[in-house]
Amino acid sequence: MRVLALLDGSLVDPESPLLRADDLGVQRGDGVFETILVVDGRPRELEAHLDRLERSARLLDMTLPERADWERAVRAVTDRWPWDAESELALKLVCTRGVDGGDGTPTAFASGQSLSAELLRKRAEGISVVTLERGIDPGMMERAPWLLLSAKTLSYAVNMAALREAERRGADEVVFTATDGSVLEGPTSNVVLAEGDTLVTTPPSAGILRGTTQGALFGAASEAGWRTAVEPVSVERLHRADGVWLASSIRRIVQVHTVDGAALEADPELHDRISKLYESQY
Ligand SMILES: Cc1ncc(COP(=O)(O)O)c(C=O)c1O
Repeated sequence: MRVLALLDGSLVDPESPLLRADDLGVQRGDGVFETILVVDGRPRELEAHLDRLERSARLLDMTLPERADWERAVRAVTDRWPWDAESELALKLVCTRGVDGGDGTPTAFASGQSLSAELLRKRAEGISVVTLERGIDPGMMERAPWLLLSAKTLSYAVNMAALREAERRGADEVVFTATDGSVLEGPTSNVVLAEGDTLVTTPPSAGILRGTTQGALFGAASEAGWRTAVEPVSVERLHRADGVWLASSIRRIVQVHTVDGAALEADPELHDRISKLYESQY
């Protein structure tokens, strides 16, 4: 199932072409996006996603349509979605720099689609990950802002290539590492560890995306008496942790059962507690 809306709230046929061949989003991956989980008609963390969309656009010196326009497009998609048949929807907000040599008007749309069977399987069964080098060091984000390390841009070809490499190595997912060996994030997720009564994630200052899902989980965890830490994490710590998860909007909180071929302590009860903590926010 697919539903496609423009920012004036009109619905368009998702099977029909929408972009021009000279759109800079197509030609250079020059644009920003967000992917939002909508459950039973309610978008999760919409404000945080729109904040991040605006932040990404600022990093790209791009003009973004008004927030009210995005909200209208979100409503158009969610109003049209058949909630009785499908209770979850992956909603993508996309904004490109517009056409090459144009007047700077961005191309923008909101697109909703069903979750894949593969994703639902990974949610239920957990995942194996391989660590792959990302080729950046922890200070790079500040030193080289033009690398857009903390922006959610449309240039995800490297992230997708890493996932294909994981598949070649027989794993489901990737955890990127920095040049000093520290853990960064997944190609489309943040890494979360449980160590005793503390939940840990890696710092956005290392050049990763600040996750809305990880943020929601840590908010719930703090309220429930967990301690939370945002700090550099070595790969070795993944092996020793009480639990490791990849967190992102559409996957929610997925348990990692294997890192680089070595089985982890994947306690189903702890996974249940962490999932319930996250769900308690909604
Ligand atoms: C590179 C990257 N890091 C982290 C995340 C997790 O972000 P969120 O929880 O807001 O979906 C994503 C989401 O797609 C991502 O692409």
